[in-house]
Formats: sequence, C-alpha cells, structure tokens
Amino acid sequence: MSLKKLKVVVLISGSGSNLQAFIDRAEELNIIIKAVVSNVEGAYGLERAKNSGISAITLPHGNFASREDFDIALAKEIDKHQSDLIILAGFMRILSADFVQQFTDKIINIHPSLLPKYKGLNTHQRAIDAKDEFHGASVHLVTAELDDGPVIIQGKLPIQTNDTAESLQQRIHTLEHQIYPQAVKWISSGAIQIKKGKIIETKLLDRLVTI
Ligand code: GRF
Repeated sequence: MSLKKLKVVVLISGSGSNLQAFIDRAEELNIIIKAVVSNVEGAYGLERAKNSGISAITLPHGNFASREDFDIALAKEIDKHQSDLIILAGFMRILSADFVQQFTDKIINIHPSLLPKYKGLNTHQRAIDAKDEFHGASVHLVTAELDDGPVIIQGKLPIQTNDTAESLQQRIHTLEHQIYPQAVKWISSGAIQIKKGKIIETKLLDRLVTI
C-alpha cells in the first residue's frame, strides 16, 4: 500500500539550503511542496522554489501593522494549500501564540544548536566561546515558546580548535541537510506521530546522529 504524499508548505527568510534538501529529496520523503513563503523580498530560497516549479510567495512582514496581522495573512496563505505540515527552514520570525495554536502539531523547525542549549541567535559563536566540545542542530516541534518544543532529531559534531563561527556553521549546515529530511521522512512514513504536543515513536529510531 503506498502512503499518501504529505502536503507541506515551507517558510523561509533567506538562502533556503534546507529547502533545497527537501526539493531534492521530495520523492523519497513522500512529500509534495505546495508552496514556499518568504517574509523577506528577494530571498534566494524563492528562486530555488521557482526553479523547481513550486509556487513562491512573498509576504513582507513590514507591510503589516502588527505581528498578529502578519500571522493572520500567513495563516490564510497556508490554508489555501491544505497542508499537513509547515516546515520552518530559516524563517526568521517569531510566530504568535495564536498562529501556533491554529496549527498545533503541524509546525516543525530546525535550530542550529543542541537544544536546550543556545536558544536564539549566534549559536555557533556562543558554542565556541563556551569552549564546548560539541555543537549541533535540532529539529523540533514548534510551540509558543521560542526554540522550545520537543526534539524530533538532533545532529552533533565535534568543534575543532581552529573553528570560526563561519566554518562551524558550514559543517552544521551539512548536518542539517541530513537530519531535517530524516525527521520529515519519519513523519511522512508514520515512524513518528505528533499528538497534543508530544512526539510518539511508533518504532525504535536513532534520534541522535553524530558525525
Ligand atoms: C539554518 O542554519 C537553520 O538552522 C536556521 O536558519 C538557517 C537556514 O539556512 N534556522 P538555509 O536558509 O536553509 O540555508
């Protein structure tokens, strides 16, 4: 029996290299990317979408009077696509509690740290400054708290003595392109289920990838 393709909308603000990983592996992941929405005009990820024939929508947040107004417009856009899953891939906007509630159990994000460490920005530099042995990335369910929802999968790698924030960020990106599609594959295949804010494994999974 073939599973129905998962309909996804990807939200971006920038380069969209994680988006590209989903575009490249959509078939294998059993997803269909219905639309890409950016809150930043000219974000390169929009080009990536267009190049693959995916509907690319710009919703500049500056055009809205408040966060709530922007989120209402964003929700309307997402609703048009009846998506099963909303993938935040470098989407640099805090979502209002109302938005998150409207799409409970349907929004996932990738954050470049080994959560719960280093929520927020500049995670690579913070990990270097703290002389951490390891750094990584986490795919998590989005809740009303920033970078706080339950973790689906983490990727971890050693920080090298000569690492700069840039070199570390580059290696973390490569790791992100492995773990984010993996998380989506688990969702689309039913290997994990998300219910009432909880991640439920339906079979034993290796949820920590170390490279
Ligand atoms: C990634 O580092 C991700 O962890 C963070 O934003 C960045 C997006 O990169 N949330 P890209 O736009 O997918 O290249």
